[in-house]
Amino acid sequence: MSNVIVCSDLTLGFGPRVVLAGVNLAVAEGEFIGVLGPNGSGKTTLMRAILGLLPPRSGSILVFGKPPPRGNPAIGYLPQLRSRLAGLSLTGRDFIAAAYGGHRFGLPLFGRAAEAAVDRALALVGAEDLAARPLAALSGGEQQRLLLAQALLGRPRLLLLDEPLISLDPPHQAAVVALVRRLQKELGFTVLFSAHELNPLLHAIDRVLYLGGGHAALGTVDEVITPAVLSRLYRTEIEVIRTHGHIFVMAGGHEVEHEAHRHAIGHSDA
Ligand SMILES: Nc1ncnc2c1ncn2[C@@H]1O[C@H](COP(=O)(O)OP(=O)(O)OP(=O)(O)O)[C@@H](O)[C@H]1O
Ligand SMILES: [Mg+2]
Repeated sequence: MSNVIVCSDLTLGFGPRVVLAGVNLAVAEGEFIGVLGPNGSGKTTLMRAILGLLPPRSGSILVFGKPPPRGNPAIGYLPQLRSRLAGLSLTGRDFIAAAYGGHRFGLPLFGRAAEAAVDRALALVGAEDLAARPLAALSGGEQQRLLLAQALLGRPRLLLLDEPLISLDPPHQAAVVALVRRLQKELGFTVLFSAHELNPLLHAIDRVLYLGGGHAALGTVDEVITPAVLSRLYRTEIEVIRTHGHIFVMAGGHEVEHEAHRHAIGHSDA
């Protein structure tokens, strides 16, 4: 199996701030990777580097074997901040069609080809019925499905989903995870799915990429979600508690995944 993403001694940062340093990892074609880590650990930054929007400070990043160009039609992206949706009066269908005509997918298609592409994306996420309604009138979970349809428009071979579970309740979180997993199995693409909690992703992911303290650890849940690996990433003593099919990452008696994400909830309700 070939690698879709290869980072070699990759360092990313902004000005004097180093976000990730000396990262080495390879993601294979068709993998579903959960991207975890506290606020500011670099989840979004890494996705932007994969999109070619942030050049490496040093080292290299290869996507499909090449340094990533900006505007890569092989990559579908669902960005993290989506409060702008709240004020939009356009329908879900027009929203998705607008992305198709935009610069993100290379050559824009118009007319019947564009209609067919939009229909296909809506059908993939089961949102045909939502598409005629104004975006602003849809629930967070419904909006999330349309955003996923938009990310699928260019028939991506790699999907980058940045915190698609934010502001969703547990049943809707489970539905989004199951939908992405089903599409990934059907269509065979590779997925990076960031989240601030591991448990909703636990049974969908092939491996986990955990970021923290400028470092990254990629491996199976059993390899990465350990006191030794996480204590290094959090720079404090971490306990891992497994119970009833859930895993809790604790420091000093508190769950760090919740503690470390105090401001994360509510973006798309703003
Ligand atoms: N454009 C920018 N200019 C300067 N610093 C930035 C910029 N974007 C991000 N940073 C900084 O880089 C670090 C990593 O940010 P990033 O958004 O990648 O974190 P994250 O893991 O996605 O966090 P969250 O869980 O809050 O989404 C943070 O310290 C952030 O302040
Ligand atoms: Mg982020």
